[in-house]
Amino acid sequence: MKFAKNILCIGAGYVGGPTMAVIAAKCPDYKVTVVDINAERIRAWQTDELPIFEPGLLEVVQAARGRNLFFSTDIAAGIRSADIIFVSVNTPTKTFGHGAGMASDLQYWEKTAHEIEKYADGPKIIVEKSTLPVRTAEAMEHILQENKKGIHFEVVSNPEFLAEGSAVSDLLDPDRVLIGSRQSGPGLQAAQEIAAIFSRWVAKDRIITTNLWSAELSKLVANAFLAQRISSINAISALCEKTGADVGEISFAVGSDKRIGSRFLNASIGFGGSCFKKDILNLVYICRSYGLDEVADYWQAVVKMNEYQQERFVRMVIKEMFQTVVGKKVVLLGFAFKANTGDTRESPGIHVARKLLEERARLVVSDPQALENARKDLAGLAGVEYETDPYRAAVDAQAIAVITEWDVYKKLDFVRIFASMRKPAFVFDGRNILDHQQLFNIGFNVFPLGKPSLTHFK
Ligand code: UDX
Ligand code: UDX
Repeated sequence: MKFAKNILCIGAGYVGGPTMAVIAAKCPDYKVTVVDINAERIRAWQTDELPIFEPGLLEVVQAARGRNLFFSTDIAAGIRSADIIFVSVNTPTKTFGHGAGMASDLQYWEKTAHEIEKYADGPKIIVEKSTLPVRTAEAMEHILQENKKGIHFEVVSNPEFLAEGSAVSDLLDPDRVLIGSRQSGPGLQAAQEIAAIFSRWVAKDRIITTNLWSAELSKLVANAFLAQRISSINAISALCEKTGADVGEISFAVGSDKRIGSRFLNASIGFGGSCFKKDILNLVYICRSYGLDEVADYWQAVVKMNEYQQERFVRMVIKEMFQTVVGKKVVLLGFAFKANTGDTRESPGIHVARKLLEERARLVVSDPQALENARKDLAGLAGVEYETDPYRAAVDAQAIAVITEWDVYKKLDFVRIFASMRKPAFVFDGRNILDHQQLFNIGFNVFPLGKPSLTHFK
């Protein structure tokens, strides 16, 4: 079959895979190919054991795969036949050299730019999907202009705002699609071509076009604002614990103000995920490199507060269990950085586990989807067991620490769990998802976040 357009995506990860599956589903006349250097990942995309867990994703993939959605490791062929190339390779925080721990590591990004330049034999639109420092498109343009074949490349920025665990619904019904381009004739035309893809299923007024730098920076700013709300409410949770106020009631009261809104005001053990910390540190680094130290300090505090919250949670566990967890069995209920994903990147669970192991606790990590990743994150550490079934995990344990807000945990039979645990039994609810009064009535000593604790100690 002849397709109207060939779309290529380089990078078959959490962003590239679901985004291309939805584009393929919505644009059956476009051929969508996803390539990756990781052959194992590509193989998994070709099976029904997808490399990532996302509700609803398998159905979308199955509907389009083999029809107009293809997964391949042949990057060169993919580049040659593509009209539009989405680049969705990872851009982690640099771990070495100048800017280590702050700046984005752009080596994969640059390598991809060189590959496009090398293999392309005709004009193409290059779409930045990966989150990048503002003005990265300029570097991409410089590399692509090196080509001696007289080929014109137009670079546009189309940052992805999907959240893990809800990627498919976010893609099908996005709050907005953002497309940044050069404000020249070819730049505006390229932006229109990308807009035409999304306008198949997204209302026109939700497709925002801006200049390139605004689009690049908007992604960093959106994540910084979301993370800032969590750090703000987490900061208040500490104050609640000192004053007898209830952070849940505060979130509700404050969030009822339409100007503030209710979302992203859940106090937690801290935010995780591959984006928030990385993107804020990147923003901080950019601000510092422009000499804007006050601006950098302001945003850096969001990350600092997140570290404080995770540390505070561990300290609470140790303090309330009579200042020692040596030899005590503690269950981590959940290890993913949020519910409905198996992803554990930057999960607060990693910090909590490491700290409790340093204190010589014995850990049982339980999670419906994330145990494979948890094993990698905690590889080489002694004193950890892994158990999918929460009931088995809790046998002989002295404490339960809720790390991830999985719905299944709300429905557990805590009478049964309590009966199998050692006494006194503790619950530390790092997500405030359980019924604390009910747990107390069963016999648990309950320590929520930012709410009065409920204990049986006189
Ligand atoms: C994406 C974005 O790329 C990142 O910038 C954003 O901040 C978060 O979302 P994500 O999809 O989560 O990252 O990353 P990952 O799941 O690691 O996928 C990236 C893929 O690119 C990997 O499968 C990797 O093998 C592939 N890759 C990397 C290439 O194909 N070529 C490379 O040169 C490097
Ligand atoms: C985020 C952005 O939401 C998304 O737009 C962007 O494209 C990528 O980064 P993601 O990291 O997948 O998405 O998940 P998100 O739902 O934003 O949650 C991030 C972290 O914040 C999780 O650890 C979550 O548990 C935590 N969180 C969220 C809270 O602690 N409290 C809240 O109220 C909301």
